[in-house]
Amino acid sequence: MSKLVTIYGGSGFVGRYIVRRMAKEGWRVRVAVRNPNDALFVKTYGDVGQVEPVLCNIRDEASVRSVMQGADGVVNCVGILNGSGKNTFAAVQADGAARIARIAAAEGVAHLVQISAIGADRASDSAYARSKAQGEAGVIAAFPGAVILRPSVVFGAEDQFFNRFAAMTRLGPVLPVVGADTRFQPVFVDDVAQAAVRGVLGQAAPGIYELGGPDVATFRELMTRMLAVIHRRRLVLNLPFFAARTMAFGFDMLQVVSLGLIPNGMLTRDQVKNLARDNVVAPGARGFAELGIVPTAMAAVLPEYLWRYRPSGQYKAIKDSAKNLKKD
Ligand SMILES: NC(=O)c1ccc[n+]([C@@H]2O[C@H](COP(=O)([O-])OP(=O)(O)OC[C@H]3O[C@@H](n4cnc5c(N)ncnc54)[C@H](OP(=O)(O)O)[C@@H]3O)[C@@H](O)[C@H]2O)c1
Repeated sequence: MSKLVTIYGGSGFVGRYIVRRMAKEGWRVRVAVRNPNDALFVKTYGDVGQVEPVLCNIRDEASVRSVMQGADGVVNCVGILNGSGKNTFAAVQADGAARIARIAAAEGVAHLVQISAIGADRASDSAYARSKAQGEAGVIAAFPGAVILRPSVVFGAEDQFFNRFAAMTRLGPVLPVVGADTRFQPVFVDDVAQAAVRGVLGQAAPGIYELGGPDVATFRELMTRMLAVIHRRRLVLNLPFFAARTMAFGFDMLQVVSLGLIPNGMLTRDQVKNLARDNVVAPGARGFAELGIVPTAMAAVLPEYLWRYRPSGQYKAIKDSAKNLKKD
């Protein structure tokens, strides 16, 4: 019987890459999500019956326990950017993470990987960063052998970072950003997945790893690189923090008065707090080097999925070469 890994949040952006890699390793994979019907696509990552989406809400003790039955390894990649209803930062990122670790220890799971985030800090003014730190503490207390991965902003075909800003360039000549001078160290999604797999296979020493790619750049520089890839010229406008806070307050209030029917997917006040802080690997932190992984550069990946935001999509290169023909 091949080994079994339960991946909480395995249908998400990062989770699906971990699922794919664990399936390639020959493991059976249980993908624990709230809506398994929406996660059926993960079945194609393995042989028939190898990858199964199952119903689970990490806020619910019984469902976390039932999907962990018989698991040799566990990965928790459940995370939220904005609390909504009962899915609050505390319930999901602090209590949910600790619950998974406690049950994993009780069930005798061999290896646990927790996906956290750079900036996790119990003293932070951001609820996101605080709940990530509380989750880490809960995991370490219950499962001291856990591997905790803290990525910087993650990029890849389905990311919500470059895709989002590239899509915004279609709206007009100005590209507004908050925290243009804040530094990031974008990390490729499949490198994060590789690190998680090392943890599940017991090839990583327990503890915290900060994961950043080879490039450190400010938000403004990242937008400039993205604009070069999509062959568009836009004015990158830095919104002052007070203006961003006011806008975010409006979006947050819209979510509140609509009783969550209009979720704030634009900008929250909590995100504005995080955008004021650099998001790079701390000096001396363990990272990819200790895991034996060489991180992938943005330049190698961005054109592979951002081409669709070029003015004529995949025909841009053909049109450019046709223009050259006319000149001759
Ligand atoms: N993406 C980044 O740039 C980035 C950067 C740093 C850290 N991280 C961390 O990396 C992890 C993965 O992020 P991601 O970008 O892959 O997020 P994502 O695409 O939003 O995926 C999150 C997953 O969590 C599931 N989920 C949410 N609430 C749940 C609940 N109560 N019970 C069970 N499942 C639940 C979601 O599925 P359903 O909603 O269908 O249940 C989804 O599968 C998170 O911990 C995140 O904080 C991400």
